[in-house]
Amino acid sequence: MKNFPLPRIDQDPILKKYLTQYCRLKFGDSWQDPEGKHKIACLDSSDFNSIKNLIGSQKFQLAVHDPPYNMIAFDEMDSSEFVNWCKIWIESSYKILDENSSLYIWLGADQKNHFEPFPEFILMMKETEFKSRSFITMRNQRGYGTQKNWMAVRQELLYYTKGTPKFNIEKVYTDIPKSVKGYYKEVNGNLTENIERSKSDKIRAGNVWIDIQQVFHLREENVNGCFVQKPMKALERIIEVSSNENDWVIDFFAHSGTTTLAAEKLKRNSISVDIEPIYCEISIRRLERYRKTGKFGWQNSNPFEEEILENKELKKYLKSEYKISFDV
Ligand SMILES: C[S@@+](CC[C@H](N)C(=O)[O-])C[C@H]1O[C@@H](n2cnc3c(N)ncnc32)[C@H](O)[C@@H]1O
Repeated sequence: MKNFPLPRIDQDPILKKYLTQYCRLKFGDSWQDPEGKHKIACLDSSDFNSIKNLIGSQKFQLAVHDPPYNMIAFDEMDSSEFVNWCKIWIESSYKILDENSSLYIWLGADQKNHFEPFPEFILMMKETEFKSRSFITMRNQRGYGTQKNWMAVRQELLYYTKGTPKFNIEKVYTDIPKSVKGYYKEVNGNLTENIERSKSDKIRAGNVWIDIQQVFHLREENVNGCFVQKPMKALERIIEVSSNENDWVIDFFAHSGTTTLAAEKLKRNSISVDIEPIYCEISIRRLERYRKTGKFGWQNSNPFEEEILENKELKKYLKSEYKISFDV
């Protein structure tokens, strides 16, 4: 089996520089899908004028944003500074969303620091025109525990609405079989048990998602080089419930391009933005690869495999720095 992993690109400026030469977009550029369904742009999402230029008069039925948390993964910002920054792109979202539309935001809560920035964020949202609808928790098992605190396995996802958007909940059942019995109700004169009344023998998705697997290196959808990828199943669930075929979805923080891919799979149109050319390129390549092979990621490989194999200097660097052998 071949094994061409790639370390976290964000933590290695030398690797990032090597790979940037293979990126189609530089800051300010956008990529138009030859099939006309998606756009991927290299922009700062907090710059409303660039967003406006990118989208023109397009309105979106769904926005799914996964901002860089001001903890662990990105340079630390003071949490009020972080939330002020969030306010800018939240206001932009309101302007570009359809009169009946949904907004989802993935957010962290730092348990070592009073759950920042979560409390400030939800208070900031209270000042906007969005209506709060649900606070979803996705189980996010990272595979390691702790002896001194509860194992951190949650990922917060906030759901807000503008107007009265669609909510196709009948489309999303989990894989969990219904097991609770004993709720009887009379239907047409007959006493029926809750399982026989149901449309499915599986549980419908609620606001605690325990049936979705965190992305890690052994998953087919894993994109080596990325590090904060959301599971396809989560994006599919959001898109199924809160949009219809041919609707438009926007994501201000593309990274590995999960939203674009889920939109493609479910026949929605999408626009995704990332400030880094490298993540825009990865998002484009992920869509192209999906269309060619039906695969969601690069398990045992990476998006730049071909270029790495041809670039002696880069190969040497990865061998010496990470002991990657590139032997097939
Ligand atoms: C948490 S990741 C998103 C992960 C994504 N949901 C996925 O499944 O791969 C956040 C991304 O936001 C990008 N980013 C950070 N600041 C940005 C900004 N001002 N405008 C656009 N993108 C930004 C980062 O480069 C990073 O790729």
